[in-house]
Amino acid sequence: MLPVPVVLDARPGNLLKQTGCERSKESCSKQCLRARIMMAAQAAYYSSLRGLLKSVGRMSKGVRIGLQYGFDSGESLDYVYEDVAHGKTVLSRQLDRFYLNAIGWQAMRERRVNLQKALRETVLLQNYYKEPSRIVDIASGPSRYVLSTIVGLPELNIIAQLRDMDDDGLEQGRNLAQRMNVSNVEYVHGDAFDEQSLSELDPRPNIAIASGVYELFSDNKLIASSLRGLSKSLCDGGYLVYTNQPSHPQLELIARVLTKRNGNPWEMRCRTQSEIDSLVEASGFEKVSMVEDSLGISTVSVARKKRAA
Ligand SMILES: C[S@@+](CC[C@H](N)C(=O)[O-])C[C@H]1O[C@@H](n2cnc3c(N)ncnc32)[C@H](O)[C@@H]1O
Repeated sequence: MLPVPVVLDARPGNLLKQTGCERSKESCSKQCLRARIMMAAQAAYYSSLRGLLKSVGRMSKGVRIGLQYGFDSGESLDYVYEDVAHGKTVLSRQLDRFYLNAIGWQAMRERRVNLQKALRETVLLQNYYKEPSRIVDIASGPSRYVLSTIVGLPELNIIAQLRDMDDDGLEQGRNLAQRMNVSNVEYVHGDAFDEQSLSELDPRPNIAIASGVYELFSDNKLIASSLRGLSKSLCDGGYLVYTNQPSHPQLELIARVLTKRNGNPWEMRCRTQSEIDSLVEASGFEKVSMVEDSLGISTVSVARKKRAA
C-alpha cells in the first residue's frame, strides 16, 4: 500500500514524486504505476478546484469570507448560519447559493439548531431551580446561537463570556450583539486549550460550550487539557455542551481545497462519539443527552459535571 500524503503539490514535475514510491517509472510494478497515475490525476483535479475557487469562486460572498478569514472561522460559520445568498448578479447569487448548500454547511446549520435547543433547555432547567445561567463559550466566533438564546428568553437572567482567539470574529460578535440588542455578554480574547486560564474563569460558569473547535484539532492531549480547565472552573452540577463530528463525506475535498485562516489546509479530525465522550467523562463529567443531525455529520451533547463526593 502506498502512503497517501494529505495534500499533494500539483506543480508539474512534483506529482509522481509525492506518491511515496521512490522507484523510477521504469522499475515500478504496473499496480504501483497505476496508483501513481491515479494520485497524480487526483492532485491535478484538486489543484484545478483550488484555482477555480480563487478565481470564479470569488464571485460568491461566502467563498470570499472563507478565503479572507479561513473556511473554519467563526466569520464563515456565521455567514453559513444566516443562509442568505448575496451577490449583485444572478450568477454570483447562484454561486453563493451553491456554496451555502454544501452538505457540510447544511449539517452546520442543523448543528446550530440542535445546539441552541440544548442550550435553551439547559438554561430553562437552571431557571427552574432558581439558578441564573452564567455561560462561557470557549471558541465562540460571533456566537449567534448564544445571542439568539438570550433574545429568546428575555425574562431570564443570563450572562455570557464569549471567548475566541480570532479578534475579527470577536469584533463581529460585538457588532452582532449590538444589532440584536444584547448587552449582558462580553467578548474576550482567549485560548480554548489553555487549561490554566480556563480553570480561572471569573465568574465561575455553570454552562460551558465547546462548539466546532475540538473537531479542528487531532491531538487528544489538547482536548483533554481544555476539558480539565473547564471542569475545574465549572460549578458542581454545571453543564458542558459540546459538539462532535463523527464523519464527513467531504473530508478529503475540504483538506485539499479549503484553507484555514493561516493559509494551511483545513484538515478536520473526525472522532468516534465514544472517543470524545470518553475524554469528557475522564474530565469529571457524566453524559446527559445527545442529538445527531439528519445527515450523520455532527452531534451536540450535554454532559453534567459530577458533584464532589
Ligand atoms: C468552526 S468555528 C466555530 C465557531 C462557533 N463556536 C460555532 O460553533 O459556530 C471554530 C472557532 O474556533 C476558534 N478557535 C480556533 N482555535 C482556537 C483556540 N485555540 N482558542 C480559541 N478559539 C479557537 C476559531 O477562531 C473559530 O471561531
